Amino acid sequence: MSKKVLILSASPRKGGNSDLLCDQFMLGAKEAGNQVEKIFLRDKKINYCTGCGACQGNGGKCVQKDDMAEVLDKMIAADVIVMATPVYFYTMNAQMKTLIDRTCSRYTEIRNKDFYFIVAAADSSKKAMERTLEGFRAFTSCLNRAKEKGIIYGTGAWNIGDIKGSKAMTQAYEMGKKV
Ligand SMILES: Cc1cc2nc3c(=O)[nH]c(=O)nc-3n(C[C@H](O)[C@H](O)[C@H](O)COP(=O)(O)O)c2cc1C
Repeated sequence: MSKKVLILSASPRKGGNSDLLCDQFMLGAKEAGNQVEKIFLRDKKINYCTGCGACQGNGGKCVQKDDMAEVLDKMIAADVIVMATPVYFYTMNAQMKTLIDRTCSRYTEIRNKDFYFIVAAADSSKKAMERTLEGFRAFTSCLNRAKEKGIIYGTGAWNIGDIKGSKAMTQAYEMGKKV
């Protein structure tokens, strides 16, 4: 059965390591007949959540006028959500955290999703990715029936493109094929 797959690519580097892994995942998922969209967050205007609380009193509508409403609609409509981040100081980058915070107005509607996480880092230790992954899990633990289905470790990649030719690239493609 064809699934709606939404890939959220948070690196500020287009064609960076996590973004290349997203493309591999996308290739696999498309080849398997799924409907796939990648959103490169840097192309979108997503402001910080201000914690104003207005969304709690007005039926889940954020008062900010930026691109987050469109991204949230897509997250809610997706069957599968892929969250990809570069590792910055052993956690997710600010772009990804900003997106997560802005789901505040409608996160209860992000239900029954399969989640995949993609991380890219200079460090070659998988264990060192744990805090970043825990950050993602902190988010998915707040959602209804979120399932963690897979992780791609883009480790040992510092410069843009270092990930090319690595096992992680093949794994991302294979994982995408099996969504
Ligand atoms: C601000 C900043 C902080 C970083 N912190 C870490 C870190 O804590 N651990 C690590 O292994 N790599 C760190 N890196 C390296 C990146 O994770 C690495 O370059 C990665 O490939 C970036 O992914 P991208 O190409 O998808 O943007 C850092 C890079 C930057 C720019």
